[in-house]
Amino acid sequence: MVDYSNEVMGLARKLLELVSEALGLNSDYLNNIGCLEGLLLLGHFYPACPEPDLTIGTSSHSDSSFLTVLLQDQIGGLQVFYDDQWVELKPTGPQQMLLSLAMEHAVDRNEEFKSSQHRVVAKSIGPRISIACFLRPQRLPENSSRVYGPLKELISDENPPVYRETALKEFIEHYYAKGLNGISALEHFRLLSSRKKAGA
Ligand code: OGA
Ligand code: NI
Repeated sequence: MVDYSNEVMGLARKLLELVSEALGLNSDYLNNIGCLEGLLLLGHFYPACPEPDLTIGTSSHSDSSFLTVLLQDQIGGLQVFYDDQWVELKPTGPQQMLLSLAMEHAVDRNEEFKSSQHRVVAKSIGPRISIACFLRPQRLPENSSRVYGPLKELISDENPPVYRETALKEFIEHYYAKGLNGISALEHFRLLSSRKKAGA
């Protein structure tokens, strides 16, 4: 776990550098605002399900992290909602790493990078094992009043903020109170119906 976590941190650091650059920011920008500060590693175990049509492995949600690195085994079952439909992310080998830009964390770069809704379908074969690494700020009491919001560098009169600023504590409390109901936690903090409309 320690070795794997270190590898994931190295990979995430590079990915967040690329995302920063794609946004026209310094490459260390997202790393400097705490995106990589904490790592939560969750090991999931999905037993074989006798009646997979009657249930779901994990219901539709987007993650509360900035970035999630997910490792799923050969059983598969992870799906992402893309282009108005569920798309299966098939494992190509015994262990394939899947990357999901979660970017949920109330920063959301003013919708430059949108968090993906994803789910896991139940299967009659199994067990299925997956390991999710969530890169996020450290959830310490002293960090709870830290505020995240649309990045100042990305907003202007033509491109006003789509979401309001949110303290870490408020975001996390809302995320867990809401549950995994297929609605992004960010909706609660939305100011404008969409950036395109706002510009009109
Ligand atoms: C998650 C998640 C998917 C999986 O932990 O947030 O989406 O394949 N896991 O277990
Ligand atoms: Ni998830």
